[in-house]
Amino acid sequence: MTDLAILILAAGKGTRMRSGRAKVLHDILGEPLLAYPLAAAAQLGPSRIVIVVGHQADEIRKHLPGTEVTYVLQEPQLGSGHAALAARGALADFEGHVLVLYGDGPLVRSETLRALLDEHRRAGRVLTLLAMRLADPTGYGRVLRDSEGRVRGIQEERDTSPEERKINVVHSGVMVADATTLWKALDRLRPENEQGEYYLTDVVGIAAADGHSVGVVEAEDPSELLGINTRVELATAAARLRDRINARHMAAGVTLLDPASAWIGPRVIVGADTTIGPGVILAGVTTVGEGCTIEMGCVIEHARIGNQVHVKPHCVIRESVVEDAVSIGPMAHLRPDTLLRRGAKVGNFVEIKKSEIGPGSKVNHLTYIGDATVGARVNVGAGTITCNYDGQKKHRTVIEDDAFIGSNTQLVAPVTVGRGAYVGSGSTITKNVPAGALAVGRSPQRNIEGWAARRGPKGKH
Ligand code: UD1
Ligand code: CA
Repeated sequence: MTDLAILILAAGKGTRMRSGRAKVLHDILGEPLLAYPLAAAAQLGPSRIVIVVGHQADEIRKHLPGTEVTYVLQEPQLGSGHAALAARGALADFEGHVLVLYGDGPLVRSETLRALLDEHRRAGRVLTLLAMRLADPTGYGRVLRDSEGRVRGIQEERDTSPEERKINVVHSGVMVADATTLWKALDRLRPENEQGEYYLTDVVGIAAADGHSVGVVEAEDPSELLGINTRVELATAAARLRDRINARHMAAGVTLLDPASAWIGPRVIVGADTTIGPGVILAGVTTVGEGCTIEMGCVIEHARIGNQVHVKPHCVIRESVVEDAVSIGPMAHLRPDTLLRRGAKVGNFVEIKKSEIGPGSKVNHLTYIGDATVGARVNVGAGTITCNYDGQKKHRTVIEDDAFIGSNTQLVAPVTVGRGAYVGSGSTITKNVPAGALAVGRSPQRNIEGWAARRGPKGKH
C-alpha cells in the first residue's frame, strides 16, 4: 500500500512496569514486545514504517534491526501527540494515510488493522479511530459523541467528568488519518490537561471541530487491543499470544501435549506430525521438521531441526543445525554452531559446541566436543573430552570416518585421529593418530602382588 505510512509510538518510559528496561523491550515468547505491533504493521505492506523511540533508543534499535524501519527520537517525552510530531520530519514528503499504533499493544492483528483501513477508505474519511466497548473502561480515553452520534473527541480518563466516565466505548490507541490533516491538527495541540502533556487523542476533537468527517470502527474483540502498562498485563498478553500461536500449530497438524506450557515464538515453524511436550520453549528463528518428538523441558532457540528428530527431555539447543533422524538427549546441550548430520546420536550429559558430528556417528555419554569435526560412523566413548583451549587460543580436533574413540579419552587439540583408527580407553592423545592405527596414550598398569595384606586391615572412617 503505497499510500500508507505506519507510525508506532514507543518512546514512553513505561513507569508502571517498575523496570530498568524500556517497556517495549520486555520479552514475550522470546521477542521484544515492540516486535509484535511491528510485525502486524509490516504485514500491511506500507510504504514506510516510522518508530518513535525515546527511552533506551539505542537498545531498541539494536534489538529490532530492519532496513524497512525508520527510527526517530522523541526527547524529552511530552506526550503521545508530541511523539507523533517527532515523526513529521521523517514523513515530510509523504502524502497519504498515516496509521498510528502504540508500541505497547502486542495483540493487535493485521486483519483488524486492515478492516479499519478498508472502512476508512470506503467512507472517504479524514480520520478514523479504532474504538472498543469494555465492561470496565477504566484507564482508557473515552469516545465522546454528540446527540446525533457524531464523534466529538476523546477525553482521557483523568480529564473526564463523572458523567463522561460512564462511557464504555474507548479509544484503542489505533487511528488512521490523512497525513496533511494529522500534521495540521498536531500543530494545534495544547498541553491543557491534567498531565500537562500533548495528547495525540486531541487531534480527534480538533478534526471534528473543523468539520472533517471522523469515523469510529468498533473492534470485534477488545482483548486484541490490550495495552501493556504493567507486568500483570504483560503476562496476560503473553499467555494470549501463546494460545493464539499454539492454536495455529495444532490446526496445522502439530500435537501439543500441554498447550498451556508450550511456549513457541512467533517466528518458529513446526512441521506436521511433530509432538511437543510440556514445558518446551521454541524461540527465535527456529524450524522443526515433520514427525519430530520434542520431549518435555527442552529449550530450542535459533535452530534448524530436520525431520524425524527425537529430542529427549531437558535438552538445550541454540544456534545449531540438526539433520533428519537424529536423536538427542536426555539432558544434552548443543551450543552455537553445532551441526549434527543425518542419523547421528547424542546422548545424555553431552555438550557440543562449534562442531560437526558426521552421519550415523554416536556421542552417547558424558562428553564434551568443542571445535571439532567428527566424520561418519564414528563412535565417541563415554567421558571423552576435546581439550580445545590452551588458555590462550582455541584449537580444532578432527576425527575422521569410522574412527573409534575409547572411553575417558582426552584429545588435546590441535590433533587428528585418522580414518578407521582406534584410541584406547583412558588415553591422553597429544599427537596425530594415523589412519587405521591404535593409539594408547596412558601409563602402563603396574600390579603390586600381596600389597593389600602387607598394608594390614582397613581402618574405620
Ligand atoms: C493511551 C491513549 C488513550 C487510549 C490508550 C489505549 C493518549 C493520550 N491516550 O493512553 O486514549 O485509550 O492509550 O491503550 O494517547 N508515548 C510516546 N511518547 C510520549 C508518551 C507516550 O511515545 O511522550 C507512547 C508510549 O510509548 C505508548 C503510547 O504512546 O506506546 C501511549 O502512551 P501511554 O502513556 O501508554 O498512554 P495511555 O495512558 O495508555
Ligand atoms: Ca498504554
